[in-house]
Amino acid sequence: MEEKKDGFGSKLGFILAAAGSAVGLGNIWRFPYLAAKYGGGIFLLIYIILVVSFGFSLMVTEISLGRKTGKSVIGAYKHADNRFGFLGPVAALVPFIITPYYCVIGGWVLKYLVTFISGNAAAATSDDFFGGFISGAGQPSVFFIIFAALTAVIVIFGVEKGIEGMSKILMPLLVILSIGIAIYTLTLPGAGMGLKYYLLPNFEGFTVAKLLKTIVAAMGQLFYSMSLAMGIMVTYGSYMRKQDSIEASTRQISFFDTSIAIIAGLIIVPSVFIFSGGDAGMLNAGPGLMFVTLPKVFDSMKGGTIVGTAFFVLVAFAALTSSVSLLETMVSIITEKFNLKRAGSTAVCLIIVVIMGMMSVLGYSSWSSFTIFGFQILDFFDFISNNIMMPIVALLTCILIGYIVKPKYIEEETTLNGEEFKAKGLYEIMTRFVCPIFMIIILLTPFFVEL
Ligand code: PHE
Repeated sequence: MEEKKDGFGSKLGFILAAAGSAVGLGNIWRFPYLAAKYGGGIFLLIYIILVVSFGFSLMVTEISLGRKTGKSVIGAYKHADNRFGFLGPVAALVPFIITPYYCVIGGWVLKYLVTFISGNAAAATSDDFFGGFISGAGQPSVFFIIFAALTAVIVIFGVEKGIEGMSKILMPLLVILSIGIAIYTLTLPGAGMGLKYYLLPNFEGFTVAKLLKTIVAAMGQLFYSMSLAMGIMVTYGSYMRKQDSIEASTRQISFFDTSIAIIAGLIIVPSVFIFSGGDAGMLNAGPGLMFVTLPKVFDSMKGGTIVGTAFFVLVAFAALTSSVSLLETMVSIITEKFNLKRAGSTAVCLIIVVIMGMMSVLGYSSWSSFTIFGFQILDFFDFISNNIMMPIVALLTCILIGYIVKPKYIEEETTLNGEEFKAKGLYEIMTRFVCPIFMIIILLTPFFVEL
């Protein structure tokens, strides 16, 4: 177990690495699209309220659970209460499902980055560039494996040298790039209209059902974006130094994550708006927004090749710091379970990722007629992890903390550094009452309304 001695060397290192996990494709691609779909400012407002209440409480719980027990997610739940030991493997399964397809999408990002860097941006504007790329299995496999291997190399170097070292370089670059691109797009003529659409609440046709859908969508986004309910924050918490404040760190990570999501929206919504001549419908392109619509938008811009290249560098960095956290969580589980060395367990995990990821790659090409409950393979993995497993893990975690071991169990850990837990009241109410109810709503909603 000597691997466990490797941990974050500084408070900043922990915050940047955890923020690196949180800031990812979810922020840059998914958040702007959801905000545009669910009434702009209304979504933003609901999202921010949820981050500081619900997201905050869950993140404090997970980081504390990890740091208190010093274990990977499997050991941590068992340590808290033996009867809840089964929850560890359930949470642990989530990164095993997400990492492979996350690396597949990381591979797509690399492909676009290479296309832009090599000056072929114009090629990416054709309508079937993306479709043609993903339906031929060869290239997506190569880019996927390169992305997964890159992730593995960082993980092999360990927590302090690999993950912390990478985060300290990539995260500041990510902030500079995102702010720089946002400033550029906001100064383009016509950006104001898009900005209004994005930031001002649009109550037109806003019904109670729509409000419910918006809340559920915002909550789903929050889980994914803050890397919650899948053992990642438990794992990172186990590497955190005892003298650092969990409460302050959680606030900083949430702030980082939410800011980058909002800035990504400031880039994407106005630029698509300008390109489409004010047609908001174009923002609803779903997965295609980043890979099909945006290249066209960049191509139409002055200096578009540079902006496009900078944008895909930004996305690649964000995706890499997230995939590293996912793989690290898998590695910590395998290391603890089979008592392997870091390099050995990273190799085992990489093999699992490549095999499962290939299923997602093939799901868009030679296996495209094969669907599971009507889902493409990649979408199926996404659905069961986000909509089913994560809410279940979160629900049971709240029950464990709220009613079995009691909030005191977590509060002891948050006050270890001698500071008081300022949001204690909020934390208890959220953990015992609000979060469990929210989780039940998330789990049941798909049965009643079409999302
Ligand atoms: N939080 C990351 C994002 O917003 C995604 C992620 C999900 C990372 C799950 C790790 C685990 O894209």
